[in-house]
Amino acid sequence: MKVAIASDHGGIIIRKEIISLMEDMNIDYIDLGCECDTSVDYPDYAIPVAEKVANGEVERGILICGTGIGMSIAANKVKGVRCALVHDTFSARATREHNDTNILAMGERVIGPGLARDIAKVWLTTPFAGGRHATRVNKVKVYEMTHK
Ligand code: RB5
Repeated sequence: MKVAIASDHGGIIIRKEIISLMEDMNIDYIDLGCECDTSVDYPDYAIPVAEKVANGEVERGILICGTGIGMSIAANKVKGVRCALVHDTFSARATREHNDTNILAMGERVIGPGLARDIAKVWLTTPFAGGRHATRVNKVKVYEMTHK
């Protein structure tokens, strides 16, 4: 699996933690910044990660900002992306099993790096359950493909 990861200035600590997790797990990743701690705009980081997921360059994406909300809103504008904002391990597992999410968003002003690491580990290792959940995800895909 290859993962693209990015954060704005509000998510740098968790981004570094998740990069360390991916190195420990031998997961291939692309780090798309940000490199500065001055204020940057989350869409400038969310959209490049979302486009890499949508075009198949990477299988998954991870985005961190202050709340995770801006990142998730922006990522979900890209067709083919299913981004979940997650702050607990139950939802991390459920959103992989039920929603086949391909991007994980988290907020560094909401949770700490330890919980973020656990969430990312669960999210990266949980497979999609398929079955009735595939029927539901396909309904979202059909809507996306048939509406502007
Ligand atoms: C930046 O101050 C903050 O707005 C951003 O990190 C994020 O929380 C937006 O949703």
